Amino acid sequence: MLEILQPTLLRFDSIDSTNLEAMRQARAGASEGLCIVAREQTQGRGRLNRTWHSPKDAGLYFSIILRPQMKLSGWPLLTLVAALAVRDALISACALQTDIKWPNDVCVNDRKLAGILAETVETQMGPAAIVGIGINLSVDTSSGLPEATSVESVSGSKPDREAVLRELVDAIRARYEFLYHNEGEEHTLREWCANSSYAFGRRVRVALSEATFEGTTAGLEADGALRVEMGDGKITVVRAGDVRALRGVTNG
Ligand code: BTN
Repeated sequence: MLEILQPTLLRFDSIDSTNLEAMRQARAGASEGLCIVAREQTQGRGRLNRTWHSPKDAGLYFSIILRPQMKLSGWPLLTLVAALAVRDALISACALQTDIKWPNDVCVNDRKLAGILAETVETQMGPAAIVGIGINLSVDTSSGLPEATSVESVSGSKPDREAVLRELVDAIRARYEFLYHNEGEEHTLREWCANSSYAFGRRVRVALSEATFEGTTAGLEADGALRVEMGDGKITVVRAGDVRALRGVTNG
């Protein structure tokens, strides 16, 4: 089979952000597949301009440069690919089953243990995608986030960081290559839905920058956007924002 992605690792003890380093490397001409891994980040970045708390050795801080040969409209699927790859890696390396919360939080019991930040950068070789992944590996109480957890907290044992990294790189390669197959995009959407309790029939509150509303999830659009059915039966398509499950509310 044609190998599309050949990952190589560049490791740092400490760095501002693996996504920022990946952007610098991409602008300097780095090839697709270069992965940046750091033991700590001093300016770890999350979605919606949040900070990603990144203490030394408490998490896996990872970014990969991709130069997808597909139409730009397909690029949002890269975050779904990354979330599925994190899920695959945690099963293989830690025997841990996880759930995916839209768009790309990896959770156990609705508590987040991994997040994904995908960004694009203009380079002389054309646009590149930087897919950053943060996995909370060890118990770390200093973040103070009630909704956060770690692989160690939920599995009861310290994960093997190198095994998680190895499985993650492997899973990204496999899932990314699959995107190029016939019906790879449809397959990825189906896989995401099959592995997310948020895909269908979940009562959620959606916070956009300008408004908040509630509804019931109704699958994904072709570009990975979330479909939310409103009380009047109309579908609202969510492409950015925060989605929270409404507890104690049953469907229908
Ligand atoms: C989120 O808000 O859920 C996304 C968090 C993404 C964090 C990772 S850690 C590695 C990479 N480098 C960063 O600065 N952010 C991402």
